[in-house]
Amino acid sequence: MGLFRKRGNTAGQVDMSRLPRHIAIIMDGNGRWAKKRGLPRTAGHKVGAETFRDIATYCRELGVEYLTVYAFSTENWKRPKDEVDTIMELLEQYLQEAINTMERDHIRLKILGDTAALSPKLQQMVAQTNAISTHYQGFQANICLNYGGRSEILRAARLCAEAGEEWTEENFGKYLWSAGIPDPELIIRPSGELRLSNFLLWQCAYSEFYFCDTLWPDFDRAALDRAIIDYQGRDRRFGGVKS
Ligand code: FPP
Repeated sequence: MGLFRKRGNTAGQVDMSRLPRHIAIIMDGNGRWAKKRGLPRTAGHKVGAETFRDIATYCRELGVEYLTVYAFSTENWKRPKDEVDTIMELLEQYLQEAINTMERDHIRLKILGDTAALSPKLQQMVAQTNAISTHYQGFQANICLNYGGRSEILRAARLCAEAGEEWTEENFGKYLWSAGIPDPELIIRPSGELRLSNFLLWQCAYSEFYFCDTLWPDFDRAALDRAIIDYQGRDRRFGGVKS
């Protein structure tokens, strides 16, 4: 792959030498996508799961090292039972596929969140994918599942205190679900909503945010290119000044 990558109708080019190492995405808009077509919300989640597969494959092909997606928040249990059941089934399907292919493709998969509340079957699959992941160094997909940023911070604070560790950012980070994963340089929220919804509250301190109107099931490779190109045009100073 060359230094620059241009595709179809994308205005600009992705600079392959300045890719974000870690992209995080709030996969929003599945329900509205389905409603617009007169379909049940669950149909939006099914297409949304396909979109996730394709975007994860594309990130890996580009050379992005980590992709983190928000699949199910601690608040999403309030949704109708059939919708929750469908999302859990889609996750089971995806984890099963991952278990079958991770060793071949040297992919790592991590679930971030309070997995104790998941079904025994999902918990067992999570344990299996975690075990396989420890053997590899390649692309890592992180799925936030029963995840809340505030819960993550509270849990880390409790564990850090129990361990009697000095309260430094580095020590604290060891107790987050995201331990060992670099902070995302780019956080994307499609579907026109302009909020973070309890996603990666600790990790987003210096992330660049990108919002677009596309609903998640319609988010394609060109949409990701546009987000990366926009990110590459940002002036990141981390509180300092340009020399
Ligand atoms: C938000 O859209 C989406 C979710 C709460 C669920 C996301 C889950 C998946 C895409 C499927 C499973 C995931 C994987 C990784 C296999 P929304 O329902 O809030 O949309 P709306 O705002 O239009 O109602």
